Order: sequence, then structure tokens, then C-alpha cells
Amino acid sequence: MAIRSNRSDAIFHYRMKDKFLIRGLGGKKGLTGTIKVSGAKNAALKVMAASILFKDDITLENVPEIEDVKRMSDLLTHLGCSVKHIRPHTYNIGCRKKINTDLSNEISKRMRSSIVLLGPLLGRFGTVSFPHPGGCVIGERPIDFFIEGFKKMGAVVHITGGARKKTYSLSISGKKLRGATIFLRTPSVTATETFMMAGVLAHGVTTIQNAALEPEIKDLADFLIRSGAHIKGAGTSTVIISGNGTLTARGPYITMPDRIEAGSFIILGALCAKHLEIKNCNPEHLSALLHILESAGVTLTIRKTSIIISNGHHGAKKFKIINVKTHEYPGFPTDLQAPITVFLTQTKGEAIVFETIFEGRLGYTESLEAMGANITPMDAHRVLVKGPAILRGRKLESPDLRAGLAFIIAAIIARGDSTIHNVYNIDRGYEHIEDRLRAIGVSITRVGN
Ligand code: EPU
Repeated sequence: MAIRSNRSDAIFHYRMKDKFLIRGLGGKKGLTGTIKVSGAKNAALKVMAASILFKDDITLENVPEIEDVKRMSDLLTHLGCSVKHIRPHTYNIGCRKKINTDLSNEISKRMRSSIVLLGPLLGRFGTVSFPHPGGCVIGERPIDFFIEGFKKMGAVVHITGGARKKTYSLSISGKKLRGATIFLRTPSVTATETFMMAGVLAHGVTTIQNAALEPEIKDLADFLIRSGAHIKGAGTSTVIISGNGTLTARGPYITMPDRIEAGSFIILGALCAKHLEIKNCNPEHLSALLHILESAGVTLTIRKTSIIISNGHHGAKKFKIINVKTHEYPGFPTDLQAPITVFLTQTKGEAIVFETIFEGRLGYTESLEAMGANITPMDAHRVLVKGPAILRGRKLESPDLRAGLAFIIAAIIARGDSTIHNVYNIDRGYEHIEDRLRAIGVSITRVGN
């Protein structure tokens, strides 16, 4: 085990030192061409975790080649599952035998999505232990919903260690988790997914009330249903699961398109493309963003699986500024809050960006201010943006993957050169981003240590 952890550490430190050099367009509409959207990180990671619910192997296709997928593969391998990366974007995962149920400290501490393994592990093996999960530094990110919910399902919880070094051990006394009614105080995406998976192997009926509605949840449910699970209401606020035992794969899971990546490319296009086609996306999942951009005056052609932006010679200055308030799906996604703030810095007028989901997700705006943006913090959840501002290239540190991509967008529209450090944070969620951006005209280079 120690060898694997050390190896992972070495990779983390090596990649952390990569940086991107970006030459800004200085306000020109320089980008043109087609950019393809990858499979959704937050869908693929959950289906990888769901492999533990199956008695046979599952195959996942259109999986993004990103660091978080590698970490989830490491985590599953560490548990004793067989993870085969059979070709680019395709994985075969099997957890046929009894596996270890202690989640690796090193990996879980770095990846919030490790929490979704709790449902499948407790459901199938009756025990799990894990450190307080990490991930992007965007707020407190408690796990109380998980602890309370699993207690209701019959788990006994032991917590050891101090404030920042807590380890949780959960086990069930009976043979199986028991179905329960779980009310989520706020609609949590990973809690909904975790209890949905736990419910599949529990005895009786599990009802999740005030469930999250994100499309990745319905996508996961559809795959589980196709494999024999009894789940009703996924994608609505009440999800009902009748426990029906381990599942049998009936065909591969094809990862749905990443709506956050698609949305970020649309924002980039609105800001600085002459003509950009964003392919392989699902516009139905992007209604909140498309509504805001259209209200701001961006011209979009929306097709079934692609979106085209044609800007002619006009600058973003002509766009109308609009207040943005993040909200659970189908509201405006918190994961697009940083990119849309970059957009707002280029429009004329004043707008408030209100981050309602996470309390630490506006810290990156300081760096935009350093680039020349006119942004005033109002409180932990709100900033006032005044536009348009001329952004100038800077040295930037990517604080999390979504703000990291927002910095790339800011650097592309800025005057002069920018260096973005902590590229590992961007690689966690975006596949070969520099190659795809270069293909549409961005001057971007990755430099190793
Ligand atoms: N919450 C609690 N207690 C809990 C769980 C959640 O109070 O036990 C609160 C959170 O603090 C937050 C709210 O519930 O205020 C909603 O958070 P949620 O649990 O939905 O977030 P998450 O499931 O941890 C997922 C995505 C995030 C995305 C959010 C919101 C994954 C792996 N992560 O996180 O994605 O921002 O939903 O849509 O699915 C990213 O991909 O960069 C990312 C951060």
C-alpha cells in the first residue's frame, strides 16, 4: 500500500509543478473552429464507484482522460478491484471478490468524490473506513448528511482523530443496510448518489427526499436500472429505491457530455471567438447558462448536440450585464460561476455574482482584480462586478479546477502574457485542455518543472 501512496504522491508533486504559458488576444475575436466536449467527470466518477454494486465487470466508454479518473482508478485498485484501462476513454472495472474496505488516506483526502464509495461499500460488504474527504478548496464541505443517513440505514459510526485528521469507520450490525427515509437539508449531489447506490443493496425501500436534480444523477440511475436496480424518480426531488441485490451489467455505460466543460467553452466563445462550434454537448443541460448569455445578447445557434457562436467583429462590450445567482440544477451551476464572472468583467454595467452553494468559492476573484477586473467583495457569498475592464496578463495560481479554467479564459482575453501555476488542479477535470484550445487558435504551452 505504501508504495502505491508514495507513487501517487510523486505524481501529484510532479504535475503540480507544470504551468501554462498563455499569450492573450488583447480583446481580439481570435478563435475559430470546432472544440469537442469530453465525457462528464462528475458522471464517470460515480459510475466507477458503482462498479462495486455489480457481480460482474462493467465497461465505461467516453471516460475523460483526467487526473480525477486516474485517482478513482487508484482508489478502486487499492481496494482490490480490477481496473483495466483497455484503450483511451474506455475502462473495464470488476469487483467480483471480497475487497478491502479502507479507503486510501492519500487519495481520499484529495478527492471529494471518494465519498460516493461509501454507499456501494457499506451496501455490499457492511463496513467502510475513510478519512474526511478532500477535493477543491471551495468551502467547508461537511459530510453530516452521509453520517446521519447511514445511521438511519443501520450503520454504527466511530470517529477517531482530531479536527483536521478525522477518520470515520462505519459498519452494520445486521446482514444488510436497511431501507430508510432520508431527508437532505439541502439537495446534495453526492449524498443523493451515495444513498441511491446504498439503497440498491439495502433491505427494503429507501426514499431520498429533497434529492438533488443534477442530470448526472439521472444518468447514473438509468445505468443502474438497466442493470437490474429498482429506482424511481431520479432527476426529481424524491428518489425511491427498492433494494434488489447486486446488479448485472447489460451493455457498456457511455459517459454523458460534461455540461460544465461545454458551458466554459461557450463562455470562452462568447468572449473571443469569431466562429466557434462546441460539439458533443447536450444543450438541454445548459439552459440556465444559455438563458443568461442570450439575455446578455450573445448570438447562439443551438442544435441537438452542438452549439455555435458567431460574434462577427463585435466585442463583448456590447453585451448587457446580468446578475448571476448560483442554484442547484436546473438553476445556474456553481461550477460555472467563475467562468461567468470572467464574462461579466467584459460587459458594460454592474452585476452581482451571488454564490449560494459554497461559502469559499469567490476567492479567485482577487486574482482577476490583479489582472485589472473591477470586482468588489460584498460578503462571503457575493461580489460586485463592474465592466468592461481591460485585463492584463499575470502570474496566476489555479485554486481549483473550475476557477483554473476561468483563469485560462481570462488569460486568453487579456493583453499580454500570463503564466498559470498549479496546472494539476486543471488536469483534474479537463482532458488535454491545452491541445484542444491550441486547435481553435489559443497560444498556450505547457511547461514542466
Ligand atoms: N452539504 C452539507 N452536508 C453534507 C453534504 C453537503 O451541508 O453532508 C452541503 C454543501 O456544503 C453545499 C451543499 O450541501 O453547501 C451542496 O453541496 P453538494 O453536496 O451538492 O456538493 P458535492 O456533492 O460535494 C458536487 C460536485 C461539485 C459541484 C457540487 C454542486 C461531485 C464529485 N462534485 O459536489 O463539483 O460543485 O456537486 O453542484 O459531483 C467540481 O466538479 O469541480 C465540483 C466541485
